[in-house]
Amino acid sequence: MKSNMTPAGMAKLEVNGKTVELPIMKGVDGPDVIDVRTLYKQAGVFTLDPGFTSTASCESQITFIDGEQGRLLHRGYPIDQLAENSGFLEVAYLLLYGHLPTQSEFTDFDKKITMHTMLHTQIDSFFSGFRRDSHPMAMLAGTVAALSAFYPDAMDIHDAEQRELAIHRMIAKMPTLAARVYKYSIGQPFVEPDNNLSYAENFLRMCFSVPAERYAPNPVLTRAMDRIFILHADHEQNASTSTVRLAGSSGAHPYASISAGVASLWGPSHGGANEAALNMLREIGSADRVGEYVQKAKDPSDSFRLMGFGHRVYKNYDPRAKVMQETANEVLDELNIKDPILDVAKALEKIALEDEYFVERKLYPNVDFYSGVILNAIGFPTTMFTVLFAVARTIGWLSQLNESIEDPAARIGRPRQLYTGAGQRDFVAVRDRVSQS
Ligand code: SDX
Repeated sequence: MKSNMTPAGMAKLEVNGKTVELPIMKGVDGPDVIDVRTLYKQAGVFTLDPGFTSTASCESQITFIDGEQGRLLHRGYPIDQLAENSGFLEVAYLLLYGHLPTQSEFTDFDKKITMHTMLHTQIDSFFSGFRRDSHPMAMLAGTVAALSAFYPDAMDIHDAEQRELAIHRMIAKMPTLAARVYKYSIGQPFVEPDNNLSYAENFLRMCFSVPAERYAPNPVLTRAMDRIFILHADHEQNASTSTVRLAGSSGAHPYASISAGVASLWGPSHGGANEAALNMLREIGSADRVGEYVQKAKDPSDSFRLMGFGHRVYKNYDPRAKVMQETANEVLDELNIKDPILDVAKALEKIALEDEYFVERKLYPNVDFYSGVILNAIGFPTTMFTVLFAVARTIGWLSQLNESIEDPAARIGRPRQLYTGAGQRDFVAVRDRVSQS
């Protein structure tokens, strides 16, 4: 990746009586940055920023989020235009290679991905070690890193060709692995990929077809699945992507770095929120109980939060949530489903968006608020929701990992700290110790 930062003056810092000058750098969009990489050398101090609310970890050219305006761009293209006009595999190409593919570029890419959809048969034996009721994310996390044991021919991340082959393999195999996780959890036989189908169609067939029945894909559900994959593909330096970058900075191969991302995504504050959001909507049960839960969410003494609400970056409506709500309406109409959960979600959104507590804190629905309604309508259990998020986000993780490896400024990530523990002291023999409690 060639750096695109441009100098925008100097920042002056007075530290312990010393004046330190640090370069201010400008990007193409978004806030400027103060480049602090020489701060410790110049002034002998670190910066402290738990949660990285004011810290950029890298320069990136893949995705841009304008939290105030609720804008999300992938290589400059707005998410709503991509969701409306593109397909997931085309967005995957865009994220990875930086431009929308020509027809021949896409045909070639589609063929490359399709040729890697199958898994080594011995991977299937991994599943028999899991209890049937294992959480699908436990099975996914446990098998993603193990993939590396079967594809040792392309593990050198500094060899561009090997790296690209490993990336193509992961994009292609994640849906097959995720479908196996689902089939294993419901005690049905694994279904092999059918390379005549599109990415989303293939995935839905591997999840929902059974040997005893003819399987007829539903184009509305296929389109909805593909759109959900697009909406979850990438999102700047979120927790799981930052985890992937940090893991990859040690030189770990893509399978190890992606499995670290899967683990980080599992948390209910991050990718696990879609499962938690639908469970919350089910617990609320009807629109007339929404007020009670809004009060709980506002109560500082109650740890309850509205799952699918709020975001570290968006202080406006998450543009993905808008598309997700439209898709939820489309799918439920198409399937002629009157899901009371959607009514609960809309009632909750209406009350929350008028309530001072949420307005003051700029808390809006995020990508996870409506996704569960659609995934539930398609037929997935809530425990599979984060697995689906991981299938989609794999391309974002791989694109960001690839960019970090190609970044000439990339070094092993090694944050420092502010130490506030015990000062140096000498060892005390056990006979001389007194109880600390
Ligand atoms: C994803 O980073 C990404 O880009 C992530 C993601 C992606 O695509 O990768 O977008 C995917 O993870 C979306 C977020 C999914 N998580 C949830 O829906 C879980 C519920 N949301 C929250 O836990 C919270 O909003 C976070 C974790 C998303 C953001 O937390 P922050 O930025 O650290 O904000 P905070 O916890 O400091 O909250 C600020 C205030 C607090 O109140 P005060 O202390 O100021 O009184 O807002 C309150 C919080 O209590 N608040 C909420 C709330 N979220 C924040 N109150 C009620 N319900 C909520 N959901």
